[in-house]
Amino acid sequence: MIELIYLVLFILPAYIANSSPVILGGGTPIDLGKSIDGKRILGDGKTIRGFIGGVFVGTLFGFVLSRLYLLPEFTADQMVFVAFLLSLGTMVGDSLGSFIKRRLNIDSGKPFVLDTFFFLVIALAFAYSSSPKIYYQPDGIVLILAITLILHPLTNFIANRIGVKKVPW
Ligand code: CTP
Ligand code: MG
Repeated sequence: MIELIYLVLFILPAYIANSSPVILGGGTPIDLGKSIDGKRILGDGKTIRGFIGGVFVGTLFGFVLSRLYLLPEFTADQMVFVAFLLSLGTMVGDSLGSFIKRRLNIDSGKPFVLDTFFFLVIALAFAYSSSPKIYYQPDGIVLILAITLILHPLTNFIANRIGVKKVPW
């Protein structure tokens, strides 16, 4: 397995993209308030500004990371592109998660198991074909998903305590 520190740096743009909408988001919802069968398509928690902000900040972070030349097997340009794919995949996965929650009658802001790791699965899928294969060994992916499962509730709890997130999940 590739060293854990490299795996963590690799997926950091996805974490950044996932957490930044709490601060950057708000305003017009992506679904423009529309419903299907009486249920919101995505809900008020998924906004256009949050989606674009997440993709932008995650990619920007990847740009900074790329200038440090820290990640083995990556060229700087490839790193920026992969950070963009990870960030875009994160925001698509986040929205897809909300779409599923609404279909299951789970209200916006209520916790659901998919909230914790689904964004990362989609992000990793988006970046797969553009990334060096050493970042996609099964043992590494399982470890990174397990870490995310633990880290996600912890960071949400902290974000709530310091006042940037409304709910502690
Ligand atoms: N957010 C946003 N735009 C996005 C994603 C998130 O503005 N595309 C902001 C919203 O203010 C949202 C907060 O970040 O309330 C927390 O995000 P998240 O937990 O993903 O959304 P929830 O409000 O829990 O909604 P859902 O149940 O649909 O996940
Ligand atoms: Mg939530």
